[in-house]
Amino acid sequence: MVVKKNMNLIEAKDITRTYKIGTVEIHALRSVNLNVRQGEYVSVMGHSGSGKSTLMHILGCLDTPTSGKYRLKGMDVTSLSEERLATIRNREIGFIFQTFNLLSRASVLHNVELPLIYRGLPSKERKRKSISVLENVGLGDRINHHPNQLSGGERQRVAIARAIVINPSLILADEPTGNLDSKTGEEILTLFDEIYREGNTLIVVTHERYVAKRAERIVHIKDGSIR
Ligand SMILES: Nc1ncnc2c1ncn2[C@@H]1O[C@H](COP(=O)(O)OP(=O)(O)OP(=O)(O)O)[C@@H](O)[C@H]1O
Ligand SMILES: [Mg+2]
Repeated sequence: MVVKKNMNLIEAKDITRTYKIGTVEIHALRSVNLNVRQGEYVSVMGHSGSGKSTLMHILGCLDTPTSGKYRLKGMDVTSLSEERLATIRNREIGFIFQTFNLLSRASVLHNVELPLIYRGLPSKERKRKSISVLENVGLGDRINHHPNQLSGGERQRVAIARAIVINPSLILADEPTGNLDSKTGEEILTLFDEIYREGNTLIVVTHERYVAKRAERIVHIKDGSIR
């Protein structure tokens, strides 16, 4: 699907997410509205428990809202089947998590190739693309390592390579520097700056101001509401 410049990549309207534990209802998101244009770099900042990860899971099509409408590239994704959502995730969304979420038994190269395997890309093309993004994140000499043979910052760079190798419409990062020391965190943020300058759309979820400040726009979330 072609997206026109300046069009909203994300349109979330009146999104609520309520969890039910027995008879207790937890209102993790309350009537959230959020529009993000293509090519924007937005951070979502809030305290622990404010609903950041819940929002990120909905924007990333890992979860669906209890009510409200979510359009991604103009497409209403609220009513899609799990299978269609999985396809959208594989084609449109690159995820980066605090705990990296790499496959420990697979090499760096294989971790980055995985989304392309799901997509059915031939092996040669897969390898070429994966090696190229790994070189871009400075890991050209680590492709045969396993995640446990890497530093935290290097692991996060593998996760970033895995996110960008699919050329996603949207990159979502949830506390990407949370497990890193400040210098390594800074290197990851510099990498995000570069990815943004290349025209990608980024949403970074964080509770830390210095991380949030790197974005073009900061969205504050409190008790499940965006102010
Ligand atoms: N699967 C779940 N079942 C029930 N309640 C949940 C679930 N996931 C999250 N919650 C609750 O929803 C609220 C928002 O959680 P969420 O994980 O979105 O917060 P967060 O802003 O990401 O916090 P943190 O900064 O600690 O990661 C919290 O009160 C949490 O306890
Ligand atoms: Mg969270």
